[in-house]
Amino acid sequence: MQKYLELIRNRRSFYNLSEDTELSKEEIKYLFEDVLNITPTAMNSQPVRIVLLFDDKSKEFWNKVNETYDNTIKEEKFNGFYHAKGTALYFIDDALIKELEEKYPLYADRMKQWAEHGCAMTQLNAWQALADENIGASLQHYNPGIDKWVKELYDIPENYRLVAQMPFGKILDVPEEKEKAPIDKLLKVID
Ligand SMILES: Cc1cc2nc3c(=O)[nH]c(=O)nc-3n(C[C@H](O)[C@H](O)[C@H](O)COP(=O)(O)O)c2cc1C
Repeated sequence: MQKYLELIRNRRSFYNLSEDTELSKEEIKYLFEDVLNITPTAMNSQPVRIVLLFDDKSKEFWNKVNETYDNTIKEEKFNGFYHAKGTALYFIDDALIKELEEKYPLYADRMKQWAEHGCAMTQLNAWQALADENIGASLQHYNPGIDKWVKELYDIPENYRLVAQMPFGKILDVPEEKEKAPIDKLLKVID
């Protein structure tokens, strides 16, 4: 196990991926189960849902995404998604949010936002847990353009809202460092 800061430093947006992950499908499934169980959510409400697509199902997904956007995804990017081991689809259960809004009227106007936070934390935990296993991933947002057929194809309940798509696979290329804003613009210390 790496030290935590090293671990999170190694999480990057990896686009060039292949199927040959060190972990099996089963092990990747357990990883996502753990992430869903461990990640905190507001009031422990667990509004996040994940659908995992592997191998040919993931390839079919990316073909359909590309078709939806008239095959305009850049070839290099598309090839990385297409050759990934799998794709995680992240959803929020809006019916659960509605229940929580009714149960906790004082916080009703925050529930949706908190669910988004819980979903974002889940995405990041999965992204980092995968990186710890030498599996690269990136975060994609082809919703809402793909929502309709995703629901039909995977038999997703009407109240689940697609939030993000995360292709993952063996890392073929490490991206270059990205420029960051000056740290004193981002962090102020008062002591
Ligand atoms: C909330 C969020 C949304 C993002 N959406 C996309 C996206 O739709 N497509 C994409 O290629 N990258 C997306 N990214 C990846 C960011 O561009 C990337 O994380 C950022 O440039 C830093 O690079 P790094 O991930 O390599 O550290 C998203 C990242 C975050 C945190």
